[in-house]
Amino acid sequence: MATPRGSRPRAVVTRRIPQDGITLLESFFEVDQNVDDRPYTPDQLAEHARDADAVVALLTDRIDEAFFARCPQLKVVANVAVGYDNIDLAAAARHGIAITNTPGVLTEATADFAFTLLLACARRVVEADRYVRDGRFGGWEMMGFLGGDLAGRTLGIAGFGRIGQAVARRAGGFGMHVVYEDEHPATAAVEDQFNARRVDKATLIGSADYLSLHLPLLPSTHHYIAEAELRTMKRDAYLVNTARGPIVDEKALARALRDGEIAGAGLDVFEREPAVEAELLALDNVVLAPHIASATVETRTKMALIAAENAITAVRGATPPNLVRA
Ligand code: GLV
Repeated sequence: MATPRGSRPRAVVTRRIPQDGITLLESFFEVDQNVDDRPYTPDQLAEHARDADAVVALLTDRIDEAFFARCPQLKVVANVAVGYDNIDLAAAARHGIAITNTPGVLTEATADFAFTLLLACARRVVEADRYVRDGRFGGWEMMGFLGGDLAGRTLGIAGFGRIGQAVARRAGGFGMHVVYEDEHPATAAVEDQFNARRVDKATLIGSADYLSLHLPLLPSTHHYIAEAELRTMKRDAYLVNTARGPIVDEKALARALRDGEIAGAGLDVFEREPAVEAELLALDNVVLAPHIASATVETRTKMALIAAENAITAVRGATPPNLVRA
C-alpha cells in the first residue's frame, strides 16, 4: 500500500537496487522500495506509485499509458538501464513526465560481456566445463573441442554507439577486422581509431565471422536477425546478443543452430524474458546468460546513483542529466 504523503517528495523504487542509490534517494525523498525483488504486477506498481513524485524503475517494469493515468503526482520515471523500451515515451510526453536512463556507465561492462560470450561460444567453454564436471575428460585429445579463431577474422557490429564502439576497441586487441552497420555513420576519426568500416546490413551479415548486436529495440530493429539473415550468415559464424531479445527471432535462431546454419551463439537476452525458447536449452552450441551484461558491482552501483540523481534533479524542477526524448 502507498504510504501517506509527508512533507518530503515521495519516490517508489520498484525492486532492489544497490544501497548507495537508496541512500542518495533517501537524502531527498521518502522512499518506498519493493524489497521482495520480484517485479510488481501492473496493479501493484500503480498502487504504490499513485501519490509518488518519482519512480525509479527497472527494465522489468512496463510503464505505459494505464500506469501514467493512475499517477497524477508523478514527475519522473528514472529507469535504471540504458535501454528504455519498457517505457511508452509518447504516453509519458502526453502526461508531461520526464523519462531518464543511465547511459555511459555500463558501456565497458557490457562490452566486456559481449566479448565474454563471443569467446565462450567460439572456444566452447561452457560445453567443455560440463564435459569435465561429468567426468568425461579421459586425457588430451588433438581433435577435442575444436572452436573458432579470433585473430584475422571479421567482427561485425550492428549498432555503432557507445557499446558497439567499446566492443570494436576490444576486437583490435584480438587482431580482428571490424565492420559495422549503423544508420548514423561514425566520424572518420572514430572509424580510424577502431579500424572500423561502415557497411550495409547485407554485407555485415554476409561477411561477419562473429556478429555482435548493439542496437536499441525499436519497431525497425525487431527481428533484425530472422530466418533470411541467418541463412545468409557464414556457416562457421557466431552470433552474440547483449542488446534486447526481440532483435533476434529466437525460434529461427534455434532452428539455425540446430541445423548447423551458423556455428554458435551467445545470448544474454531473450525474446520473452524470463522465458527461453525450449529448443535452445537442448543445444550445446549456444551459451545462455540471464541478462547480466552490466552486472558488476561497480557498474550496477553507478547505474543506481545516476538514476537517483536523475530522479532528484527532475523533482527539483531542473532538467535531469539523462533525459530521454521521445
Ligand atoms: C540493460 O539491459 C540495460 O539496458 O541497461
